Amino acid sequence: MSGRKRVGVLISGRGSNLVSLIEAAGQPDFPAEIALVISNKADALGLVRAAEAGIATAVIDHKAYKGREAFDTALTAAFKEAGVDIVCNAGFMRLHSAVFVREWHGRQLNIHPSLLPAFRGLHPHAQALEAGVRVAGATVHFVSEDMDAGPIIAQGAVPVLPSDDEDTLSARILAMEHRLFPLALRLVATGAAQLEGGHVVYGADAAPPFLASFPAP
Ligand code: GRF
Repeated sequence: MSGRKRVGVLISGRGSNLVSLIEAAGQPDFPAEIALVISNKADALGLVRAAEAGIATAVIDHKAYKGREAFDTALTAAFKEAGVDIVCNAGFMRLHSAVFVREWHGRQLNIHPSLLPAFRGLHPHAQALEAGVRVAGATVHFVSEDMDAGPIIAQGAVPVLPSDDEDTLSARILAMEHRLFPLALRLVATGAAQLEGGHVVYGADAAPPFLASFPAP
C-alpha cells in the first residue's frame, strides 16, 4: 500500500474511538484519512462528531435489509464508492456475513475492550471482573468470520484495581483504546503490519504493537 490510505469507519453509538481516529488522522504525518463514517443507527452520537470534523457520514439501517448479506453488500458498496481501502469497526454492534469478511480480508480492523482471546463477546469488563484478572486491556485485530477471534494486531494493558467496578474499569480501558486504535491503524496503513497466513507479520521497522499503563493511573 502506498500514499495516504482512505479509511471507512463503522459505528453504532457514542463514537469515542472514532474521535481518536479522527484526531490521529488530523496529524500531517498520519498515513490514513477518514473518508466515510457509516452508522447502522441514525441517532449515533458518533455521526455528530464526524460531521463536526467535516467528514462524510451515512446511515445504513440494518433493519431496512432482508438479511446480513444484503446489509453488508450495501456497506461495501458505500465504502467502494468512497474509495475506501481500510475498514475500522469502532463500536459497531453488528456481526458481518462471510462475504463481507472475505471482501475486506486483511483490510478490516476491530477494537475490543479485552486482552483477547480472553473475554470475547458482550460485557468483557464484567467478564474480567468476574474472572478476577489483575491485568485487563484492549485489542485491535483483523476481522475474521468468528467474533473477536481474528489475528491480533496490537494490544494495550491496564491494571485491574481491587476497588474497580464496571464503570471504573471501562473508563481505564477506554483511555487505552483511544491510544491503541490509532497505533494499530498506523501499522496497517503503512504496511508495517500485514495479515499473512492467518497471523500478523510486522516489518523490521514497525513500532512496537503493544502499550501498557502501569503503574495504575
Ligand atoms: C468500545 O469499548 C469498543 O471497544 C467496543 O465498543 C465500545 C465503543 O465505544 N467495541 P465508542 O463508541 O468508540 O465510544
